[in-house]
Amino acid sequence: MVTTGSIAEIQALITQFKSEGKKIGFVPTMGALHEGHLSLVSAAREKADIVVCSIYVNPTQFNNQDDLKKYPRNIDTDKSLLGKNGCDILFLPSDEVMYAGRNTISFDFGDLNKLMEGRYRPGHFSGVGLIVSKLFNIVLPNYAFFGQKDLQQLTIIKKLVEELFFNLDVITVPIKREPHGLAMSSRNERLNQKEREEANIFYNALIEAKSILTKGESVSEANEKVKALFEDHKAQLEYFEIVSDHDLLPKTKNYLEPDTVLCIAGFIGDVRLIDNMYLYGN
Ligand code: PAJ
Repeated sequence: MVTTGSIAEIQALITQFKSEGKKIGFVPTMGALHEGHLSLVSAAREKADIVVCSIYVNPTQFNNQDDLKKYPRNIDTDKSLLGKNGCDILFLPSDEVMYAGRNTISFDFGDLNKLMEGRYRPGHFSGVGLIVSKLFNIVLPNYAFFGQKDLQQLTIIKKLVEELFFNLDVITVPIKREPHGLAMSSRNERLNQKEREEANIFYNALIEAKSILTKGESVSEANEKVKALFEDHKAQLEYFEIVSDHDLLPKTKNYLEPDTVLCIAGFIGDVRLIDNMYLYGN
């Protein structure tokens, strides 16, 4: 695996591979890698000839400076995991390379960034849109791999690719979970064993709500059930929404459709977690 933080160097490598007719698969990450990230790397390994990963903790997508400061960073372990899992090129840029002191452009995704995560994390998706655009322009991948875990991010990136004519396919990878259902996340590293058990409530709430809805009961019954689960529980519910996966608008009557997805977010202590589940899938 080649590791570089230089735009010129990675572009020279990629230009060479492309001139040989090789397809480039790209997995952008913020590091502190777990099996969820590695499932994206495997998907890229299967589909592309050359796998490029990036690790960059992007300051412009953190609305909370404390969250940025506490975001886990395990670069040595990450490098060895990527090396063992079929990554060919690791892009590891500095803040100076990615922003050079500039932070002048912002993105507005309309309703998509006003709902759910956008409501609770103002500016977050602008930062995601900006860094992902920069990375796409540097790597020029044929395929870019994103996890369903960050459903709203995925919807926004599909919009970005469509509206800015990025010449690549966005590939969605399913959510990897711990044995009891907790969605894998870099932020889980900040939970102790007891908190990890408490955090299962997010998955359990999704399962309960899904079972209520598939039995034909109403959205408000599902909402009430979820709220009740969080009463007297250590975890704090921020939102539970039943939405369509393409516009993220809440489903009311017509929720029994294949695009219906249940989304949840909340806190265990000061660690913020998100999860989601399709009504008729994972
Ligand atoms: P990060 O949180 O590191 O996630 C990188 C990718 O891994 C995202 O596409 C995310 O959806 C996926 N991922 C995370 N947990 C997963 C899980 N349990 N199962 C499957 N995939 C999972 O998302 C970001 O970084 C950043 O916003 C980024 C896109 C890199 C821009 O900075």
